[in-house]
Formats: sequence, C-alpha cells, structure tokens
Amino acid sequence: MKVTKICCIGAGYVGGPTMAVIAKNNPNIKVTIVDINQERIDAWNDSDVSNLPIYEPGLAEIVEETRGKNLFFSTEINKAIDESEMIFISVNTPTKTYGKGKGMAADLKYVELCARNIAKVAQTDKIVVEKSTLPVRTAQAIKSILDHTGSDVKFDILSNPEFLAEGTAIQDLLNPDRVLIGGESEDAIESLANIYGSWVPQAQILRTNVWSSELSKLTANAFLAQRISSINAISELCEKTEANVDEVAKAIGMDSRIGPKFLKSSVGFGGSCFQKDILNLVYIARSYNLQAVADYWEQVIILNDHQKRRFADNLISTLYNTVSGKKIGFLGWAFKKDTNDTRESAAIYVADHLLNEQASIAVYDPKVSDSKIQSDLNYLNTRSEEENSKLIQGSATPYDALKDAHAVAIMTEWDEFKTYDWKKIYTQMKKPAFIFDGRNLLDKSTMEKIGFEYTSIGQ
Ligand SMILES: NC(=O)c1ccc[n+]([C@@H]2O[C@H](COP(=O)([O-])OP(=O)(O)OC[C@H]3O[C@@H](n4cnc5c(N)ncnc54)[C@H](O)[C@@H]3O)[C@@H](O)[C@H]2O)c1
Repeated sequence: MKVTKICCIGAGYVGGPTMAVIAKNNPNIKVTIVDINQERIDAWNDSDVSNLPIYEPGLAEIVEETRGKNLFFSTEINKAIDESEMIFISVNTPTKTYGKGKGMAADLKYVELCARNIAKVAQTDKIVVEKSTLPVRTAQAIKSILDHTGSDVKFDILSNPEFLAEGTAIQDLLNPDRVLIGGESEDAIESLANIYGSWVPQAQILRTNVWSSELSKLTANAFLAQRISSINAISELCEKTEANVDEVAKAIGMDSRIGPKFLKSSVGFGGSCFQKDILNLVYIARSYNLQAVADYWEQVIILNDHQKRRFADNLISTLYNTVSGKKIGFLGWAFKKDTNDTRESAAIYVADHLLNEQASIAVYDPKVSDSKIQSDLNYLNTRSEEENSKLIQGSATPYDALKDAHAVAIMTEWDEFKTYDWKKIYTQMKKPAFIFDGRNLLDKSTMEKIGFEYTSIGQ
C-alpha cells in the first residue's frame, strides 16, 4: 500500500517524538498526531516551542521545522483515522489498578478503545500499527475487534515496538540500533519498512512474526532493568566489603561478553516502562503457569524497591535516626536526566518514605514544576493534599532548596548539579552537612574537602 497519510493516536512521550522524526524524514507524508487530551494538543501547537508538553533534547527544533508543513497535532481523532492509510496506536498501557491482574497486568482499555474507534470510523483499508508496548498476543484481540465491523474494510495489524530511551529519544530515533516490525502481511510490513527506510538502513529493519515482536519489547526492557538491579544488588555488598561498585562495574564492563552500558549503580530505576513491563511479563508467565519464570523476573522489581527503601533508611539512620522537622534538599525529581518525565521516579518513593518520618523536603529539578511534584505525591494517597503541600515544596533555584538543609539527596543525574557552587551550598547548610548521592554524580574527595559528610551508593 502506498502511504501518503499517517495518523498516530496518542501524543505522548512516544507518539510525539516518533512521529516528529518520521515527518522530518518523509516530507511527502502527512503525519497527524491526535489525542483526547486537549491541553496536551494545545501545548504541542504552542507557537513557543519551549512550551511543548515533552522535553527532549532536539525535539523542539524538529517540531519547529515540520509542524504546519507535514506534521499536525489535533483532537479530531475520527477525521485523522478516516483520511489515513496507516494508523499508529501509541496510547498509554499502564499497570492495572483494579480487578483481575491488579498491580501486575497491563491495562489495555485505552488500546481497545482505539481499536473500536478505528473499526467504527474506517471506510477504507488500513494498516494498524501497535506502537504501544503490549502483552504478547494482543494483536489477536485487536484483529478480532477490527474483523467484526461488518464492513469490507481490510485491516492489517503490525507490531512495531518503540525502543527509544527518554532523554536521548531524538538521537535514538534518528540512529536506532534496529527497527522491529512484526506482522503477517508482507505488503503491510514493507509499507512500514519503506517509511523507516527513508533514514534507517534496511539491514537494521528486522522483520519477524507479530508475537516475537510483541515479546521482544517486554524482553528488552526486562533485560535492561535486570542489569540495573544486578549492579544495585552488588552495590549493597560493596558497602559491606569496602569494594567500590564503580570499580567493579568498570572491571566487569570491559569483558566484551558483558559490555559497559547500563551498569551504573543508583538509587533505583524509575520511568513509566521498566516496572510496568516486567510486572506484565511476570503476569503473563504466571498466566501460563510458569512460576519459576515469573519468580525470576519479579526479583528484578523486588530488588529495585529494596534499593529505594534502603537509600531512604540510610539517610534517616545517618541523620541520627530522625528526620522529623529537618529540611532535606532534593536535587532532581525526574526519573532520569534530560527529561521532564517523573513517572515512577525513585524520588517520589524516597520522598514519601521521608515524609512518613515527618521530614520537610525542598526539591529543585530544572524541568519539573512544584505542581507536578504535588500531583505525583498526591497520587500515592499516603496523606492528604494539604499535608503534602505543607511538607514538600518545589524551589525556584537549587540554592533555595538547599539553604538551611540538614542533607542533600541527589535523586537525578542532571549534569548541571556538578557545576554548582558547592562551597556556597556548604556554608548555607546546617552542620554537619550531609550529601546522599543517589547517582554517584559528585566527586567524593572534593565534597569531603569542602567539609561535607558524603555518602554514595556502593562505596
Ligand atoms: N515513554 C517511553 O519511554 C516509552 C518507550 C517505549 C515504549 N513506550 C510505550 O509506548 C506507549 C505510550 O507511552 P507514552 O510514554 O508515550 O505514554 P503517554 O502517557 O505519554 O501518552 C499516551 C497518550 O495517549 C493518549 N490517549 C489515551 N487514550 C487515548 C484514546 N483513546 N484516544 C486518543 N488518545 C488517547 C493520552 O491522552 C496520552 O496523551 C506505552 O505503551 C509505553 O509502554 C514508552
């Protein structure tokens, strides 16, 4: 099928950047990104690109270059479905918070709503592309919905999971390690491969069956998260044995069979995907009665929760077993640097634990607002909104956040944290002034020379 118009349902962290890069590299294809969230679409259409709803290095420039030419953002979902030959589904697939599979399975209601809407609106043949991360065999459910419309419209379903990492999304999209397309119809697969082919070498475009493609995405995230939990498990052992986790990581990473990436020990991984996708994998394994497989992967999550918890506990015990009424300054709230995404950020859980101990927290993050911090904590439902807003606030500058604080907790690895005037920060803090570096970002000896009591992970 010759594709001249594409629609993407879901203008989020995946839909926005992915479609912007497709539009940039395919000037002859009209790409329309639609969403039910009017506020989000308005932000995507903001004439000042610094107000886009998603921060990613390089994204604003591409949106500025393509928007209004062949890239459009709209809430007119039916119109975009109707006129497009190819429709990407890129909506959220969070962990279920109710019913069967609560806390484990992926909630597919948004995906199903999209499929039903496409079935209702489509008058001409469509290629439907799963861009969202979905449990293996979801394409079967989508196909079943689309095949029961009672019309002659033909639907081909492809799985095309997205492997971008937030913070480097544009670079990852422009130079992907691989693009994965799973499907049955060769014609549909080649239509999508041609779109990527305008900037990705064909050898890097893998074609598989749908089920391998769906499962590969869950597996990739499980393996990545597993590496972090593995090095974090070793970090605790390092703290007991005077080994240094960064030295261990370097030593094992030089083994070409292991490789150096994703071996940075930290306060624990966050983000919208790792935990959700592993829980989903565990749920799927249990549903096939594969207990050993499920238990194996679940341990990755258990260790990650342990790492966040022990960071908070260590902070409390170092501050003489009480943080009640003490100001703790957080540097960073986003789940990693170079993104404004805070979903499942370790900072949220560490803060919640410290607030239970009546700490008073001030947060500085270069890309996260006070209202986002409040809504992240309110979502946990641990205490009332009034209590949260009394106990934790976003600060306008790092120096405000750390003034009169008993301790600094570094929660995100933003590069700018390394450039601060740490001598000035030291003079403005209560003494002894503690740093708990959850990202091993600062130089221990420099901080100790200034006078800080410095604690990092795995050292
Ligand atoms: N964020 C990542 O780094 C990443 C990476 C790879 C894959 N994924 C996967 O991609 C999918 C999307 O993730 P995201 O981070 O972009 O989510 P997101 O929450 O940022 O965006 C999803 C968007 O879909 C919209 N939406 C939901 N239902 C809709 C409907 N029926 N019609 C129209 N719009 C609707 C929401 O309003 C929201 O704006 C998920 O399955 C996720 O697991 C995410």
